[in-house]
Amino acid sequence: MNLGPLVFLGTFFALATSWLGFVLVPQLQLCRQQPVEIDATGQLYPSDPSGIAKQGEEVYRANGCYYCHSQQVRPKGFGSDVERGWGGRGGKVQSVAQDYLYARPVMFGSQRIGPDLTNIGLRKPDAAWQLKHLYDPQSVTPKSVMPPYRYLFEKRKLKLGQKPSEEALQVANVPAGYEIVPKEEAKTLVAYLMNLHSDAILFETPPPTNAVAAASSTNAPAAGGSTNNPPAATNGPSTNVPAK
Ligand code: HEC
Repeated sequence: MNLGPLVFLGTFFALATSWLGFVLVPQLQLCRQQPVEIDATGQLYPSDPSGIAKQGEEVYRANGCYYCHSQQVRPKGFGSDVERGWGGRGGKVQSVAQDYLYARPVMFGSQRIGPDLTNIGLRKPDAAWQLKHLYDPQSVTPKSVMPPYRYLFEKRKLKLGQKPSEEALQVANVPAGYEIVPKEEAKTLVAYLMNLHSDAILFETPPPTNAVAAASSTNAPAAGGSTNNPPAATNGPSTNVPAK
């Protein structure tokens, strides 16, 4: 018996169904995602990062920060990301496809030697801390194993009697008569980090229960509105983000 046509059909069927499942269906589900307007603020989420944060994204990529840091908060039940406070949206909810609309390429990361940075702009909204941490991680996090990125900074000689400039880092072991200042790359990288936040509560990320209670008292429509417009009561501002 000639099994040729049967083998051909079987192979074709297997390849066709996997293409449908892995390529076509996700494409149909995700390709129509658009930024949504957050009712409370009137701003679009996500928004295209400004020029300086965009440049910082290049620095992030060029320095391989993604080798140690992920940008993807897993849902409850898949690890302890949410418990660790890495999720925005009231510290309760995971990343969704919408968060990555403007990320090219998406920097999910490959390993987690350091913490997830999806919401670092909310967790550590302090540029001075970020700069100091990049220059000397152990100066702010004792025993940190993150490598220092000193080449993103410049050691500048001060003129006789000149005071250190405002942007000079407050770090130990700076020789007398010198100051350490961030180079352009360090500043843009920190602008990028400050801009990392996925806090908008969207239709696909139902709000934590306390947010529903808080929102429903002021803003009538309940969760579960139309699918292309996130329910008004749920897309509140970042008031539920834990202050850290
Ligand atoms: C070899 C792995 C490694 C690399 C590469 C690395 N980091 Fe880290 N990072 C860590 C570890 C470990 C920590 C946790 C300890 C600490 O806070 O220093 C950390 C912490 C951080 C934090 C603080 C996070 C928090 O929640 O407190 C930030 C911000 C950060 N890294 C940014 C960066 C940036 C930007 C780069 C690239 C320029 C980078 N890291 C490269 C390992 C790494």
